[in-house]
Amino acid sequence: MSDRDSWISNLGFVLAAVGGAAGLGNIWRFPWLTAGNGGSAFLIVYLLVVVGIGVPGLLAEFVLGRCGRQTPTAALRSLTGSRWGSWLGAFNVLTTLVILSFYSVVGGWILRYTLVSPVGTYFGQPQQYFGAMSFGLEAVAFHLLFLGIVAAIVFFGISNGIERVSKVMLPGVVIILLGLAVWTATQPGTAAGYAFYLSFDAEYLAANFLSVIGPAAGQALFTLSLGAGVMLTYASYLDDNASLPRDTLVIAVSNTFIGVLAGLVVIPLLFSQGVDPGQGGPGALFVALATAFATLPGGELVATAFFVTVLMAAVTSGISLLETPVATLVDSFGVPRRRATVLVSVLLAATGSGLALTSSVFQFVSGTLADLMLTVGLFAFTVIVGWLLRGDALAEFRAGTARFEWLAKPWLLTVSWVLPVVVLFLLTNTLASLAGISVGLGGRVIIAVIGTVALAVVVRNGSRTDRLSSH
Ligand code: PFF
Repeated sequence: MSDRDSWISNLGFVLAAVGGAAGLGNIWRFPWLTAGNGGSAFLIVYLLVVVGIGVPGLLAEFVLGRCGRQTPTAALRSLTGSRWGSWLGAFNVLTTLVILSFYSVVGGWILRYTLVSPVGTYFGQPQQYFGAMSFGLEAVAFHLLFLGIVAAIVFFGISNGIERVSKVMLPGVVIILLGLAVWTATQPGTAAGYAFYLSFDAEYLAANFLSVIGPAAGQALFTLSLGAGVMLTYASYLDDNASLPRDTLVIAVSNTFIGVLAGLVVIPLLFSQGVDPGQGGPGALFVALATAFATLPGGELVATAFFVTVLMAAVTSGISLLETPVATLVDSFGVPRRRATVLVSVLLAATGSGLALTSSVFQFVSGTLADLMLTVGLFAFTVIVGWLLRGDALAEFRAGTARFEWLAKPWLLTVSWVLPVVVLFLLTNTLASLAGISVGLGGRVIIAVIGTVALAVVVRNGSRTDRLSSH
């Protein structure tokens, strides 16, 4: 294990983790979800979910990573002491492959928009341009290019590749976004956008809380990269001096800041150009925003700055997704890193190309399937940390810091009870709508509570039996 790569500095880890978290989820998904779900109402529920579920969940995943000091399959196998830990780790690896397959297709779109923005190729007919390039052979080509960039960085490893690139790209993202947000504020007609995004509408919130909580929670998991073992893998390269609660807070706050900042650029701009924010949907960035850029003075420059930012954010998230399967091959199968990078990239080149050719499968994979896999992953993590590790998890929480001591037990309580219930509730929502069954709110709550208690009992008994039989 001594030849395992590691972060050069804690700052490097934090920047890479924020870079991994802040990506298309923040700049592409967050603004259109917010716009389509009532603006400020969504923002508030989303912030609540990030604090209540996201932060404790992220900390749980970090605890698993540093406690296990290995990639998901080996770490979860040794932490659970059972073979189903390996299966869960394999499921995590599969999740990263599924997500990166579609992520790389969108990354390809972004790459293309970055290249053509200086000459405003899509300015004349944004809708048609997006329609013509989003799926098909050209989309395959740009997906491969994007994947190539990501693979080239992972090829060089944690300290030489990922840490170095994140240290440059993440500050770049923040600086350009800040500049764009200031520039947006100087544009005429943006006031309505700010009001929609930032003003607190208690009535709307009360009336729509239940319909907003699902997408807000899904977004919180996606944006923090929770449940895929990516954060687990990054934390496995940490040493005992790092304070996990402190790093978690810094990472969650920075990631949220980047999302909110992206909203401050995208939403007022859409309003200023009279583009209906709800109309955007997933195409918002490419169609609605492109329409806004096309009509603005100096639109080419602004568009280029914007897409360069999105591209950098997408690349740093892409490398976090590729690192997990690559590191698994390195750690568990002894494959040299460079060969592992090539092998996994070839696989992703194929799966991503499939998605770049079939929009219906792409829709399903990038929406329902990704959400479902992340939710299942996070549920399993909370069960392991909250019901199996317990004392060990607390020790890991405390290692490297005395400052957050008072939070240790409330955190474990949240991870043992609140998180599994909420996550199971979300899972029931998704599964019920997939199966076309309608389960009332009360029914979903009951399923979530009973499911959590039942699992807690099974896991505790299972681990006791394992311990007895190993004596
Ligand atoms: N958090 C990334 C984003 O917001 O773009 C997406 C992501 C990366 C999700 C890694 C899940 C993951 F494991």
